[in-house]
Amino acid sequence: MRTPFIIGNWKMNMDTEKVRDFSEKLKKIDLNENVRAGICAPYIFLKEMLDEFADKNIKIGAQNAHWEDSGAFTGEISAEMLRQIGVNLCIIGHSERREYFGETDDTVNKKLIKLFEKEMIPVLCVGENIDMREAGRHKEVVDKQIKRDLASIDKDKVSKMVIAYEPIWAIGTGKSATPEQAQEMCKHIRSIIGTLYDSDTAGSVTIQYGGSMNPDNVKELMNMPDIDGGLIGGASLDAEKFSKLINFEN
Ligand code: PGA
Repeated sequence: MRTPFIIGNWKMNMDTEKVRDFSEKLKKIDLNENVRAGICAPYIFLKEMLDEFADKNIKIGAQNAHWEDSGAFTGEISAEMLRQIGVNLCIIGHSERREYFGETDDTVNKKLIKLFEKEMIPVLCVGENIDMREAGRHKEVVDKQIKRDLASIDKDKVSKMVIAYEPIWAIGTGKSATPEQAQEMCKHIRSIIGTLYDSDTAGSVTIQYGGSMNPDNVKELMNMPDIDGGLIGGASLDAEKFSKLINFEN
């Protein structure tokens, strides 16, 4: 059985005061221990978040990492640096990084290889834009991303990772994919993993849906058989809303 995994993606949001306020509030709320939870915060808040949640069942993650351990890469943070401070979760290949920061399937692949080497859990984001969806080419787009992103990565690693299906048209728009649309693609992703690897690996990999997930639609989405979790942007910035997402079964 796959354990549900709810991860917040703060993107370039929050500030010192808001982080403190969020942590204080979230720590006071009882969270379902049977749901895995994580928060991917801006680099600058990671140390504080690690300290705040050290004895809580919440993983603290980054939103990107460089594939080299060190070197002349001004402005970058390596997976090795993150590992050293205790970060063990990292988003890779988010559509915003692919769109605005030149992330390609090749760099995503290098980053994934490095995160596995550092024994971190990668959250690989894939998903189509509205044009591809309207042209009926969404599965084709996601197939290509997954095949290229996972090139040369073996099945033991894939079975422990997270793949987040995030249709770009649903991100930050308030217009979530329907549970049926999300299920269809998550099932498809599981079948690609089955074809590339084997049925055990397909059965073990955690597949999340992301794109305007919120306390009102989480239950319906999580009820779908191939949706194992959520990657949540906007609704993860508020401790109360985020706790409702983790406690979706209540
Ligand atoms: P959203 O973002 O929940 O605000 O739509 C999701 C994401 O980009 O990970």
